[in-house]
Amino acid sequence: MTDRPRVLVVGAGGREHAICRALGRSPQNPEVLCAPGNAGIAAQARILEISQDDHEGLLAACRAEGVALVVVGPEAPLVGGLVDLLAANGIPAFGPSAEAARLEGSKRYAKEAMAEAGVPTAAWEAVSTPAEGLAAIERLGAAAPGGGRSPYPVVLKADGLAAGKGVVIAADETQARATLEMLLVERRFDTTSVLVEECLDGVELSLLALCDGVRAVPMAPARDFKRAFDGDRGPNTGGMGSFSPVAGFDADRALALTAQFHQPILDVMARRGAPFHGVLYAGLMLTADGPRLLELNVRFGDPETQAVLPRLRSDLLRALGMAATPGGLDGVVLEWSPEHAVTVVLASAGYPDAPRSGDRITGLDLVPDGVEVNHAGVRRDAEGLVTAGGRVLALTGLGPDPTAARAAAYAAAEMIDFAGKQQRSDIAARAAHPDGVR
Ligand code: AMP
Ligand code: GLY
Repeated sequence: MTDRPRVLVVGAGGREHAICRALGRSPQNPEVLCAPGNAGIAAQARILEISQDDHEGLLAACRAEGVALVVVGPEAPLVGGLVDLLAANGIPAFGPSAEAARLEGSKRYAKEAMAEAGVPTAAWEAVSTPAEGLAAIERLGAAAPGGGRSPYPVVLKADGLAAGKGVVIAADETQARATLEMLLVERRFDTTSVLVEECLDGVELSLLALCDGVRAVPMAPARDFKRAFDGDRGPNTGGMGSFSPVAGFDADRALALTAQFHQPILDVMARRGAPFHGVLYAGLMLTADGPRLLELNVRFGDPETQAVLPRLRSDLLRALGMAATPGGLDGVVLEWSPEHAVTVVLASAGYPDAPRSGDRITGLDLVPDGVEVNHAGVRRDAEGLVTAGGRVLALTGLGPDPTAARAAAYAAAEMIDFAGKQQRSDIAARAAHPDGVR
């Protein structure tokens, strides 16, 4: 036994890899464990072969290992009550209770919380049949400023967790009908409720904040790229790239946005007796009429985390531990490196619809030290690493400006190869351009 604190990260993706690295940089010199992790994370953390869904197994491991803090990466174990189980057994965990995680687990619950909090968001209605859906779409069009305009495009969202695939922007009535049928009749995502939402226009911003149940401390703003192909075309994915910082969103602006969006939500949750501890991720749309809250996630974003955490100068382990106590983050300000980070995701053939596994990954040894290579869908076989999932690797380049950071990430992307490799070529392209921020 040593007196190094042990911290357990739950999850197996690029986000968890970045979290393990950032925790490993803590001056407390923790021993970082990861369950179930992956073959790449094994370089930064001791792997425990326990599924993120095996809550009892995770609890037993925490006891056996004397874990001082658990950090839960993905939403599913949070919504499933992992933090509640750990807390009930005296194991400190960073992440919301199952009740507070409903902010992500149910889009309707989130919209009701936003309404109660008075934060600006897209107009919406919840429906449970295609006919109700079409009627709600007509009402949205009639209620739009100027009245009586076409209600299309319109946003349709499955109420429950759908791994980013339950949101469709329907261009016309034919597509809206087909989507409502798919969601409410075929029940593709096991949902009985669909949100019909006004489609907002603008550029998105991801603003994550550490929350201690009472207060929110903003992290560095980031932008992610959700569509599969260049020019924001193609299907929605988990995220194909990201960058941080974002021009125009300095620390003061981040603080103001946190006061406008995160804090009122925290107040509502505290009033409901479900105080929010963990990362509250606000997906904002920056519209001509000001920022609007599109969605809430109750965890670190993927791949935003891979661009944000390499810039953190503060002790992440200390900050996450403080968030476990109500009001524990009082007076905490996170310090950030002025460097720019750009993250490019390499995805497997067929992603996002039907990702292929088993393609040999080469060239990792060529990537220079300055580029952070976070592993997601990878597996080790006798000869090395092969693909084992949709998003395979996330490469983060750092530099004094977006151009340099972008060049570093893309140079690394060129060195790595596997059959069917997919990547966007325009991540942070506009940020690196003097005229634009995207
Ligand atoms: P969500 O799962 O709610 O984050 O939605 C996924 C993505 O769909 C968002 O990041 C946006 O790109 C898009 N989206 C969601 N809601 C809207 C909306 N009301 N207007 C326009 N785009 C939206
Ligand atoms: N990058 C989007 C998400 O983590 O949901």
